[in-house]
Amino acid sequence: MMNMTETQTTLTIPLADDFHVHLRDGDLARTVTPLVRSGGVGRCLVMPNVNPPIQTVHDALEYKRSLLHIAPDMTFLMTLYLHEGLTHNELERAAEAGIVAIKCYPRGVTTNSEHGATDLMAHADTFAAAENLGMVLCIHGEIPNDTERGIDIMNAEEAFLPELKRLHTTFPKLRIVLEHVSTAAAVNAVRELGDSVAATITAHHLLLTAEDWANNPYNFCKPVAKTSADRDALRAIIKEGHPKFFLGSDSAPHRQAHKECEHPKPGIFTTPILLPLIAQCMEELDCLDNLAEFVATFGRHFYRLAPNKGTVKLERTPFHVPDRYGDIVPFAAGTTLNWSIPSPR
Ligand code: NCD
Ligand code: ZN
Repeated sequence: MMNMTETQTTLTIPLADDFHVHLRDGDLARTVTPLVRSGGVGRCLVMPNVNPPIQTVHDALEYKRSLLHIAPDMTFLMTLYLHEGLTHNELERAAEAGIVAIKCYPRGVTTNSEHGATDLMAHADTFAAAENLGMVLCIHGEIPNDTERGIDIMNAEEAFLPELKRLHTTFPKLRIVLEHVSTAAAVNAVRELGDSVAATITAHHLLLTAEDWANNPYNFCKPVAKTSADRDALRAIIKEGHPKFFLGSDSAPHRQAHKECEHPKPGIFTTPILLPLIAQCMEELDCLDNLAEFVATFGRHFYRLAPNKGTVKLERTPFHVPDRYGDIVPFAAGTTLNWSIPSPR
């Protein structure tokens, strides 16, 4: 437990784990990947929804190699994109190669999910194998839009929760992470399910409601930010310091041209400002004491990983968020945060 006072001006915690980040490939990866460490993160779980998606051990290891080439000081944990051709043999090889998780996107719910799952239970054999191999299943928990069933972006997450419960009942030992929870209903569901079910929380879902993305594409992501009651449920669970809820930023950069257009792509870019943003939010919630556990303990316990080596120091000095990084506009661009991470000397 850290000794906090109202006058606290510096904060040193272990390097953080970000259990959900999009690092893209090519030029975008070269822009984004070095910024992970600037945001205070030493280890991250890399999402596989590049184009084409990362579906084989070979591709995951190649991807990891290319990321390490850009940022040799980082630890990259890799994931495989759940698809019909994922064999038991490939999963065994994945576990041996240290690939920690399988990512499931229901088809059509978000960026590059057109190769995703249409019927979860069609992948029952994969889930059983993952359960036996000790791999984690990360789920984007939304039902695709369906006007006949009344499913839209505001209720898509809540409508997914019965599927989560069914999955957990069928595979009680399978570790499942419900990614980027955005509703009070999801917080309650995860809290009530067994210890093998956890959730990631993003910085932006702690801060936004539907008002904020209605006229600003840089606040638009999937799942969309919802009501203030939903946002408050996320705030309450991190204030409580519940060990099944930990950081996954879902930082998802898109070029300006793909944001300022008729159909903006979903995704919010928080990577370079991540820990200052969360520190400010937790300070406002009067739970800065919980920062280290939220960003560096609970997640790695769930993923059964050793602590990160190294620490990150935050200072309570103003941090002016740049208008852009390359052609990516970050979350909170042009505003000033209360906390910053001094660059290493
Ligand atoms: C992500 C992306 O752009 O890759 N977008 C998002 O809004 N979160 C995909 C995802 O995680 O849903
Ligand atoms: Zn994501």
